[in-house]
Amino acid sequence: MALATTLALGAATPQLAYMKGPSLEKVNSQFDKKVLNQLDAQRIYDNIDTLAQEPRVAGTDAEDQAVEFIAEEFESYGYDVEIQPFTFFGYTPPSSLSLSVEGFEGELNPRSFTYSVNGDVTGELVDVGLGTVDDVAGLDLTGKIALIQRGSISFGQKVLNAAERGAAGVVIYNNVDGVLNGTLGAYDERYVAAVSLSKSEGEALKALAGSTATLTVEGAEAGDRTSHNVIATKEPTNQKKANDDIIVVGAHHDSVPGAPGANDDASGTAMTLELARVLKNVPTDTELRFVTFGAEELGLIGSYHYVDTLSDEEIDNTVANFNLDMVGSRDAGDLVMRTLDGQPNLVTELSQKSSLKLNGEATPFSQGGSSDHVPFAAAGIPAALFIHAPLEPWYHTPDDTIDKIDINKLQDVAEIVGSAVYDLAQFDHPSQSKNTGKVDVEADMIFEQSVR
Ligand code: BES
Ligand code: ZN
Repeated sequence: MALATTLALGAATPQLAYMKGPSLEKVNSQFDKKVLNQLDAQRIYDNIDTLAQEPRVAGTDAEDQAVEFIAEEFESYGYDVEIQPFTFFGYTPPSSLSLSVEGFEGELNPRSFTYSVNGDVTGELVDVGLGTVDDVAGLDLTGKIALIQRGSISFGQKVLNAAERGAAGVVIYNNVDGVLNGTLGAYDERYVAAVSLSKSEGEALKALAGSTATLTVEGAEAGDRTSHNVIATKEPTNQKKANDDIIVVGAHHDSVPGAPGANDDASGTAMTLELARVLKNVPTDTELRFVTFGAEELGLIGSYHYVDTLSDEEIDNTVANFNLDMVGSRDAGDLVMRTLDGQPNLVTELSQKSSLKLNGEATPFSQGGSSDHVPFAAAGIPAALFIHAPLEPWYHTPDDTIDKIDINKLQDVAEIVGSAVYDLAQFDHPSQSKNTGKVDVEADMIFEQSVR
């Protein structure tokens, strides 16, 4: 410290004598201000509104329209855009279900299992207990509908065990109160049509075993689908003074079925667009890539595809991934960062530096996955998720709409991330500050479906 002060003072006097222009530091902070002043949260908000008119499920026309919109926006800022296709195995849930049992008064409310196949079956309803291999051993269920209680083994295994004995349909009922929203886990050609019922419905049907039942599942579809990543690249301003580094700023543009995904993740997508717009004409010695990913909600498929297609050299050169996912909810908590290993890295350090400078408080971080920073971190690239915690109650619901978006939150996150990216990308970027983060710990995986 004493040495640094001496050196600084020693250098100050002769320098002042011939220095004409502003110091490098001053130039940097002027550019920093220029970048920040140009960030327009209203533009982010308007683009969220455009994107979040309907759900953008990967592999659907709605996703294609979003991809087209994003690509056109990038192009309008002057970017070259690559639309990167990839395929995945997809499942569309049934459009209609019905179940009726002779002798049952009233209405049954069957629900579908994810990965159930279609069927149209009329046959005897047979109670096969828990549907284990032992339960069905020796039974001939050919053309029949198996009635099975939840518990002990997975739903998918119950369906396979019944199908193995010839069953043409399966009804699984809950063993606790409440509806049963289940998944068979993965697609299997050997499945037969399967639906779930509540505990009370199932118990009523158990008393009617031997009666004739009719089960229909229609409109389900499994097969290969195509989704896309959208990649806009800004080469370093002056190739001669450039380094080889690459910074990736990204978000996922797809949503879950039924949710317009204004916050998850039109917010991150629109913020990625705005950062791309503002940084386009700023001098940088680092390559910037702005990427929106498809099929995040189906298991980070787009971001894995993106990272898988990078060369070893590109992976080595990618120095940071800023992942913006759910960055504008009025009803969520404060901004936090998540890293896969829970450790600080270049992204958290730069962002803590910028948030401290902008707000007087460093954005905290802790461990968390469940989004597109995971494939980057798994490839050894410093990466962090930007999200508000705790989550809003509208997460993955039809109520994730534009009216729940807070423009001030958008401005705040865009400034923190924009400033951090610019810190690293500008010519002769200032050295990084030490991590000052406190850790907050929280459960971050939310499962909507049960497998058993
Ligand atoms: N936007 C969420 C990310 C997220 C992260 C939500 C942490 C809550 C906590 C993301 O789109 C999402 O829903 N992810 C899935 C997992 C993914 C691998 C399919 C999730 O958290 O259930
Ligand atoms: Zn998301």
